[in-house]
Amino acid sequence: MPAISATAPGKIILFGEHAVVYNQPAIAVPISKVKARTIITANPKRKPGAVKVIAPNVGLDTYLDELPQDEPLAAAIRSVSHTLKLSTIPACDIRITSKIPIAAGMGSGAAVTISIIRALSAFLGVPFSDEQVSKLTYEIEKIHHGTPSGIDNSVIAFNKPVYYIRNQPIQTLEVPQPFTVVIGDTGIQSPTSTTVSNVRNAWRDNPTFYESIFGQIGRIVQDAQRAITGGEFKKLGLLLDKNHKQLQMLGVSSSELDHLVNVAKSAGALGAKLSGGGGGGNMITLVTSESAEQVADALQSEGAVNTIISVISSTI
Ligand code: MEV
Repeated sequence: MPAISATAPGKIILFGEHAVVYNQPAIAVPISKVKARTIITANPKRKPGAVKVIAPNVGLDTYLDELPQDEPLAAAIRSVSHTLKLSTIPACDIRITSKIPIAAGMGSGAAVTISIIRALSAFLGVPFSDEQVSKLTYEIEKIHHGTPSGIDNSVIAFNKPVYYIRNQPIQTLEVPQPFTVVIGDTGIQSPTSTTVSNVRNAWRDNPTFYESIFGQIGRIVQDAQRAITGGEFKKLGLLLDKNHKQLQMLGVSSSELDHLVNVAKSAGALGAKLSGGGGGGNMITLVTSESAEQVADALQSEGAVNTIISVISSTI
């Protein structure tokens, strides 16, 4: 039997992270220049149920039976067999790799889970729909970071730009005029669970203040959606700057993120903000296609460990 493989892209949040957890809208897009990949090879020489899980990025090479229930890779595998009501999976090797930076706001956890669910459901002869993949991934995301909004699993499973509101049907974002962003990585790992729980504690202590920031972010997201559909990129840049200020007020930026945001602006970007959970990880900046290289170079020479230039369009 030939090996079965599936991939899933990374993602970035253009607008609205954190506030989206509190039911405000957010805009996110898949980034297919970085991917997670799962390859499954049948191994009929071993007895049924002997499933080997190999994930070199996290130093894992062991049998599924050895992994605890709350280990995210094992949970993704078990969610497929559970959905299909299978008591045993045919003996196989499940090899998981990813080029998406970990704990950096690019959806690496959701993408890895999605690649596993896609590959395993296909291997078992019942490839799951995008909807099913997204729903199962949401459950696994709870292991990764407690109270996810569901935006990461949605944008990655559907592989389209989305305008997302928690608990509402997913809306595809139309991008009539493609635009270019540069993503800059601070190289500092910062688990989303930490920043999400910091914001939650701060909100519990002072709900009025934090809810007013969430509301302002929500309005920025609505304006951004209109700017994207209208191709108003100068305005879109200013909205990125405004969103970054609100994220600073939520306490989720860092000196490294602020520095890269300022560097991008000085190098000619139209606007910039942190992207994802914050505290480290990645920032994004809106550029013209002519200034993309120049902004990426400036970010790299000022501390970004990696940059990705990506053109955002309806089809990605
Ligand atoms: C993580 O990509 C985005 C956050 O808003 C958390 C979430 O929506 O689950 C920080």
